[in-house]
Amino acid sequence: MGLPEWVPEGVDITTPNAARVYDYTLGGFHNFQVDREFAEEAQRAWPGIYQLAHANRSYLGRAVQFLAGLGVRQFLDIGSGIPTLGNVHEVAQAMIPDARVAYVDIDPVAVAHSRHILAGNPHAIAISGDLRRPDEILAHPEVLGLLDFSEPVALLLMAVLHFVPDDDDPGAIVRQFDEAAVSGSYVALSHGIPAGAQADAQDQVKTLYQRTPTAIHVRTPERVVGLIDGFTVVEPGLVPITDWRPDPEDDEPPQPAVFAAVARKDPA
Ligand SMILES: C[S@@+](CC[C@H](N)C(=O)[O-])C[C@H]1O[C@@H](n2cnc3c(N)ncnc32)[C@H](O)[C@@H]1O
Repeated sequence: MGLPEWVPEGVDITTPNAARVYDYTLGGFHNFQVDREFAEEAQRAWPGIYQLAHANRSYLGRAVQFLAGLGVRQFLDIGSGIPTLGNVHEVAQAMIPDARVAYVDIDPVAVAHSRHILAGNPHAIAISGDLRRPDEILAHPEVLGLLDFSEPVALLLMAVLHFVPDDDDPGAIVRQFDEAAVSGSYVALSHGIPAGAQADAQDQVKTLYQRTPTAIHVRTPERVVGLIDGFTVVEPGLVPITDWRPDPEDDEPPQPAVFAAVARKDPA
């Protein structure tokens, strides 16, 4: 039996992959047997991990609404994932119809499906890119054609920095974006932190992710704040994702193992 038509050429369907596993945990269809089995193994090791993915996605939506509410009209979403519920351009353009969104991901399925759903949207693009090579993203012709870096830009780093090992210096990566951005720009992130009471479960999941191309590197809240030290963290600070400006209508279970922050670039 052939592969579905949405599968880009050359995709490895024998190794689980973070983008497709995340898609499956959110109820998406752009994943393979190997990803589904992996997600189910992770869920057995850490019951509640699917809710964690949903909570991260809800936080992403709240952060984009918050930023659009402040008048931010441009978004650079790196590690954007496979499009699913509540994509950044949908949330932002519901508030600002000509809000511009550049999606960047290392995963070919994420990029291909993003391009597919963005066809006909003049204000959004998707490119293949690696967060560990910020200069290439910032110099990419499609990014430069869409985003105006003389105006504020929101850099979204949602559930992606914990795929960047210390050896790749995630702080220096964020600083490169900081240098490219004008004051009034923002960075919004979510990041896995050591899970305390759930440390054993988290260790099992970290071991599982070593089977994927992107191992997980959790960092303490102090280290996560250190990654964005050029920015001013806005209220309520760096907090568990479910505590970041929660929607009073939601009753999501607390998620103390992934923290969130939104931070502003102030004038020098
Ligand atoms: C857990 S998903 C998060 C998706 C989305 N940001 C969200 O929060 O809903 C992590 C994404 O980061 C991507 N990713 C991992 N390492 C990356 C890198 N070095 N550069 C770009 N994307 C990366 C994966 O392919 C995956 O799509």
